[in-house]
Amino acid sequence: MSAAAASAKVAAGRPLVVSSFQEWRSAARDLLMHEVAPERVTWNEVGTHAADLFSGAPDPAPSADNAPAGLTPLQPALPKRPSIPRALMDMLQSAACCRMPDRWAFLYRVIWRWQHGEHDVQSPADADGARLHAMVKAVRREEHDMHAYIRFRERPLEAGPPQFAAWFEPRHDVLPQVAEHFKDRMGNVTWMIGTPDASVMWDGATLHHTGPLMKSAADLDDAGEALWLTYYRSIFNPARVNAQLMQSHIPSRFWKNLPEGAIVPQMVSNAELGARSTGQAQAVGRKSGATIPIAPADAQPERQQPSKLDECRRCELWQFATQAVGGEGPKKAQIMLVGEQPGDQEDLAGKAFIGPAGQLLDRVFNAAGLERREIYLTNAVKHFKWEPRGKRRLHKTPAQREVEACHYWLDKELAAVKPKVIVALGATALKSVLGSGSAKLGESLGKAIRLGDRWVVTVYHPSYILRVPDEATKQAAFKVMVDGLKLAQSLLNRPPEEPPA
Ligand code: URA
Repeated sequence: MSAAAASAKVAAGRPLVVSSFQEWRSAARDLLMHEVAPERVTWNEVGTHAADLFSGAPDPAPSADNAPAGLTPLQPALPKRPSIPRALMDMLQSAACCRMPDRWAFLYRVIWRWQHGEHDVQSPADADGARLHAMVKAVRREEHDMHAYIRFRERPLEAGPPQFAAWFEPRHDVLPQVAEHFKDRMGNVTWMIGTPDASVMWDGATLHHTGPLMKSAADLDDAGEALWLTYYRSIFNPARVNAQLMQSHIPSRFWKNLPEGAIVPQMVSNAELGARSTGQAQAVGRKSGATIPIAPADAQPERQQPSKLDECRRCELWQFATQAVGGEGPKKAQIMLVGEQPGDQEDLAGKAFIGPAGQLLDRVFNAAGLERREIYLTNAVKHFKWEPRGKRRLHKTPAQREVEACHYWLDKELAAVKPKVIVALGATALKSVLGSGSAKLGESLGKAIRLGDRWVVTVYHPSYILRVPDEATKQAAFKVMVDGLKLAQSLLNRPPEEPPA
């Protein structure tokens, strides 16, 4: 539908049929310019108005002559184009993905009100504003759920591309934006996602959007499923199972399309019936004999021992990160610096401390008379944990279980590099190095703590300095970092038996 056609159709008493946000936007702009009030417009989704879809009748120009009886002729186009702020337009675009029968009419009412000076329409305190916010939230949630619960299955090579396929039944129209997400995350492999209404295929270079190509998950080729189920069984820990919590985290509508959905009820009931006596499900626990109480953290005899960081599945963070980011520096560095986790830029580049926190660190090194190339730089957690905020990925503090799972890798680095001094940047690094509950950041700052045959010095994390607003606090924290690194250097020639001066 052309933009000019919208006001003409309304003048002719015909409904407007739209199939996308872009179509709605150009129609809405035309209607606003002609001052067409929301009550005068009937909006239909594609497919709900067959006559309009298939009629080849040209759109009449708006005029007093062709306006049906009883309808006021439309105003001539106003010279001024409506101007809707970017933030509101973004919300409208997001809300347009929410499957509500009256979505187009509602969105038009919102911009009509805005255009007529009712700027409260954007506020959650306004009834329409509240609905708009709720629609945006529902869509974001669905995007999140689709990122989290979609499962790509590898297809047999002989089946040809795509290499991976997934099925999902989204509640809202989020397939296009979710496809963009996986396009950026999955690199060159070819994949497709099927849903009941549409499909999308990535051929390694271009996204192809088509109508529905599959009817259900049963149409997927299941080559990768056996592997996935084996993995899921091995990480399943009945000692930690709380079926209710699990269901509240993964709503039941997703279970049927998750490969592990079929085996979870059985594993839960095994756990409840006594497999717990071994501390793990049958496939995992190997202990026999009397029932022994076992701490969940120790009940991991077969917790995955990957040989390569890229293959690590010891916690769930790998699923959302672009890649694992390992440590870097001289093989026998005397000082090892441990941060929290890679940030957005580190995740994309695969290198630790190259973003803003790393740049600040360079200034600290400089002030402390150190060079980056002398130091081994790593993180307590090797995958970027984040949450979406608009188009940005915002850092999220890793959970204790993720820090513990990743300690496996820090141990390997410590064993290989054998640094004399570890510098922990911030609370997460400190917990990882010394173990949770052993030391608090405030008490440890700037001090040397003995850990076996090495020293641990704790300083602020550079992000803290980037975050605090006032200059005096920034400078004080910078000084703590510089002094901490100077202390680290002074400890190099002092065996841990000898307390620091
Ligand atoms: N923050 C960290 O702790 N590590 C990085 O690599 C980057 C930012």
